[in-house]
Amino acid sequence: MSSELPVLRWGIIATGLISSWFVKDLALSRPDAKAKHIIQAIGSSSSEKGKAFAEKHLPGLQPTIYPSYEEVYNDANVDIVYIGTPHAFHKQNCLDAIRAGKHVLCEKSFTLNAKDAKEVFNAANTKNVFVMEAMWTRFRPLTLALRKMIHEDKAIGDVRRVLCDFGLHQDIAALGPESRLKNPALGAGSLLDIGIYSLTWGLLTLDAGTGTTAQNPKILAAQSLESGVDLASTMILLYPNGAQGILTSATYAKSPKPFCRIEGSKGVITVEGPAASMPTSFTVEPKEGEVQTHDFSAPGMGFYYEADAVALNITASKTEDDIMPWAETTRVLELLDEVRNQGGVKFPHEN
Ligand SMILES: NC(=O)c1ccc[n+]([C@@H]2O[C@H](COP(=O)([O-])OP(=O)(O)OC[C@H]3O[C@@H](n4cnc5c(N)ncnc54)[C@H](OP(=O)(O)O)[C@@H]3O)[C@@H](O)[C@H]2O)c1
Repeated sequence: MSSELPVLRWGIIATGLISSWFVKDLALSRPDAKAKHIIQAIGSSSSEKGKAFAEKHLPGLQPTIYPSYEEVYNDANVDIVYIGTPHAFHKQNCLDAIRAGKHVLCEKSFTLNAKDAKEVFNAANTKNVFVMEAMWTRFRPLTLALRKMIHEDKAIGDVRRVLCDFGLHQDIAALGPESRLKNPALGAGSLLDIGIYSLTWGLLTLDAGTGTTAQNPKILAAQSLESGVDLASTMILLYPNGAQGILTSATYAKSPKPFCRIEGSKGVITVEGPAASMPTSFTVEPKEGEVQTHDFSAPGMGFYYEADAVALNITASKTEDDIMPWAETTRVLELLDEVRNQGGVKFPHEN
């Protein structure tokens, strides 16, 4: 019965694109929901923006609208803060929410670099609150089934090579300097925006481990820069057993629907979807046997999978999640730091 489900009251920080996707998904009615999500409050740079956001994306609901983020952190009726600001603000937003004693779900990339992430996790540890990077793709049933098929069932034998691309047609040159996709001070660039997903697919499929149990691959990287912003990034991962990941991001052109190809000793798997963040099916082509497509289409976009996981963790008094633990967020950022070190991107805050 729905009354037995854990209840989580969310305070939403920022009213941009991702926040709109997130709240719409949480407001969906789902027979298989594992938690009840309430959008309790919305914090924005202005009340007008906050009000317009609620009217458009949460019709019939009446969250408290605040003209600041601080008021959301201090609202006693908010259990958890969802952070949907540009990358450069995540660290401060997280620290502010944690200081107020709130749990946090923060969009990817969690922070600009691994050092900042460690600072946030240290603060969370001190305050004993739950914190997680909103790497929603990892929580999708498709991703969990694919990992099982590759690493436990060995459906394509040993994985030898993985190719993944996340490309969008963003036309960066045409954007204004205020855009989070163009302004280095906001953490712009394809790597932290979309390359993080290509890297994630490589890490998920080349290795069964996560966080402290994962192997650390060697990394070779190149980035194409314009005014300090990477328009394209390429990463090659090399694992001790010789397996390779060729993982790319670009702002010039949209990737095709099959965005990832996993090559094993006994077959190939392709992963399909509108974007590398949102896989909807995968196809297994064994060297011997039948080709099979596994479809995971579901209502909405699928942000509720990570949200349900967060609610269950908080109900169990956990401070981190097993699928996206603190050590994994930190490891991903360390790899991204190394890509930027080789590729040449430095954010203004890092000078
Ligand atoms: N999981 C996903 O699939 C996904 C998809 C897209 C983006 N994201 C992530 O979500 C985050 C935000 O991306 P977005 O596409 O939603 O960005 P966006 O549409 O530009 O919205 C960002 C919001 O942040 C707030 N903000 C505060 N200071 C700002 C500043 N100086 N400049 C611009 N905005 C500022 C604004 O909200 P207020 O004015 O209301 O305060 C703004 O609407 C990023 O971390 C991004 O990587 C994730």
